[in-house]
Amino acid sequence: HEEFTKVKNIATIELGRYEIETWYFSPFPPEYNDSLKLYFCEFCLNFMKRKEQLQRHMRKCDLKHPPGDEIYRSGTLSMFEVDGKKNKVYGQNLCYLAKLFLDHKTLYYDVDLFLFYVLCECDDRGCHMVGYFSKEKHSEESYNLACILTLPPYQRKGYGKFLIAFSYELSKKEGKVGTPERPLSDLGLLSYRGYWTRVLLDILKKHKGNISIKELSDMTAIKAEDILTTLQSLELIQYRKGQHVICADPKVLDRHLKAAGRGGLEVDASKLIWTPYK
Ligand code: COA
Ligand code: NA
Repeated sequence: HEEFTKVKNIATIELGRYEIETWYFSPFPPEYNDSLKLYFCEFCLNFMKRKEQLQRHMRKCDLKHPPGDEIYRSGTLSMFEVDGKKNKVYGQNLCYLAKLFLDHKTLYYDVDLFLFYVLCECDDRGCHMVGYFSKEKHSEESYNLACILTLPPYQRKGYGKFLIAFSYELSKKEGKVGTPERPLSDLGLLSYRGYWTRVLLDILKKHKGNISIKELSDMTAIKAEDILTTLQSLELIQYRKGQHVICADPKVLDRHLKAAGRGGLEVDASKLIWTPYK
């Protein structure tokens, strides 16, 4: 059966100044199957079997940042929007790379249909990719994020929360609610649960009087179902007379907020220069 042949092939990759151990199988083209290690250009994401090939490539590669438009810059952090149709090879390279750290996600080779939001740390040598998320150009299911990845050397520093917050800022600009594509990995779910909890409880703490799930959804671009499951899992919802009622005892909210951890890196929405894809 095909599943049995999907053992991890590439054990390590070199990317920028990092050597990174991989987590999962990724379906690189057959000619790469006999390699244990691949060398990536950190800017165009082309990959090679030998270090010398990469060194030769780096002398010619003109890119110093992802292709596409810089749509956000704050301090040394930048976000680039890459259209998979205009930058097909980049989109495919990014998917091959990402799959090394994603378990059950189907890879979309049809990168035409996706936008890629690539987060970079910038210095005088260029903009170095830290992570990304992909987003369907048109989603019937109101997905605002397909895949999300923080590269392992950059994990647990708040970049995942930044990427999630960014995906909701885009949804707000579109005037739509959004939700991540399922299934989410354990780490993905943890990150989302933390984000939803912080955003919703911050509002509930400040708000005076009644507030509905619909109002919360309008304010945050978080889909009503995700608000309901988040508040239910925190036992903040009661069902009275056929209606959901949010119970927001300040002490209980503070306890949950503490448990949800810090917000991490903030997205400064005033620095987002972007118009929705049409
Ligand atoms: N162990 C326990 N909790 C973890 C964790 C780990 N290894 N990694 C993340 N978390 C939880 C924590 O609650 C963390 O908040 P905290 O650091 O304040 O405690 C929260 O998730 C988010 O942390 P953050 O630093 O913002 O996220 P990240 O940059 O590490 O990225 C992912 C989170 C999910 C994007 C990252 O783990 C990843 O790329 N995983 C592989 C790909 C994947 O599974 N993607 C999601 C499925 S589509
Ligand atoms: Na993808």
